[in-house]
Amino acid sequence: MIRPFDDAAIEDAVTRIRAGECVAVPTETVYGLAADATNGEAVASVYAAKGRPSFNPLIVHVPDLATAKTLADLNGAAEQLAEQFWPGPLTMVLPRAKNSPVADIVTAGLDTIAIRIPAHPAMQALLRASGRPLAAPSANASGRISPTQAAHVRQSLDGKIGLIIDAGPSGLGLESTIVAADDASVRLLRPGPITADQISDACGLAIEASKSEMITAPGQLETHYAPAKPLRLDASSGEPDEWLIGFGAVAGDASLSDTGDLIEAAANLFGCLHEADASDRPKIAVAPLPRDGIGEAIADRLARAAHRD
Ligand code: TXA
Ligand code: MG
Repeated sequence: MIRPFDDAAIEDAVTRIRAGECVAVPTETVYGLAADATNGEAVASVYAAKGRPSFNPLIVHVPDLATAKTLADLNGAAEQLAEQFWPGPLTMVLPRAKNSPVADIVTAGLDTIAIRIPAHPAMQALLRASGRPLAAPSANASGRISPTQAAHVRQSLDGKIGLIIDAGPSGLGLESTIVAADDASVRLLRPGPITADQISDACGLAIEASKSEMITAPGQLETHYAPAKPLRLDASSGEPDEWLIGFGAVAGDASLSDTGDLIEAAANLFGCLHEADASDRPKIAVAPLPRDGIGEAIADRLARAAHRD
């Protein structure tokens, strides 16, 4: 359902977000498909709705700097960029704060997190009223262009999501600029509305050559957690030297989902891989999973995790 942006629409959206649903909401860049970033299953449902064949780490949206600091560690350059460009179309990839409540699936298991404080009143209202950090990729089916109007979202995701908040066309129409800043330099990971020159002027640091080709290739190995141990797929039982990650009828040492629920499995995937890596067994095995729906994305991640050079 499309609802115009007003208090009642935000109230409806908050109810859905708290119930673990995803909601399409306008931002100043593009329309996002938002879910509670602390709820792994809610975030998995975003991937399911988009039909994404792989898990990319997602941007986490927060209402203000104080909240950003509960999720990420800001260095000096990041503080300057935050001061200058937040709220606005800038995303910063930062070290994840210790004890961050954000679900592993959001960061694809990485120890960094992409954070943005959006300026749009609808997204700001939803962030404040829900009290949750919101993971939000663009609200389009995988492989389609990003939506800048509610009607685009409906064309792309009709029947897959319960609510689209309509605030007219997105002002910028281009996804946020993404940078990774440390104390010595800033890397531009995705060009966007804020230019490299604006960024170097604001923090006085040189901009390193763009690595955007790395980031635009979906499912790039570098942007995901890969276990250090050998991993065997489609294992219906484990060897004594293997930590078995189960699914459905295959119980294992831990299970992606006892009930064979793929959404639950997607939410648990990176956590289970970390647990297996940290176990006292030298190898990992994973039970077979169906490939339908979000199962395809899980299979993609597992195939990458199993690949060894
Ligand atoms: O304008 C925008 O940024 C929109 C609106 C909805 O806010 N959002 C958006 O999100 O474009 P998304 O999830 O489609 O973009 C995520 C990008 C991906 O290219 C991903 O690889 C990168 O951010 N990213 C996220 N976390 C990262 C991390 N920890 N390290 C490196 N790259 C990361
Ligand atoms: Mg996108």
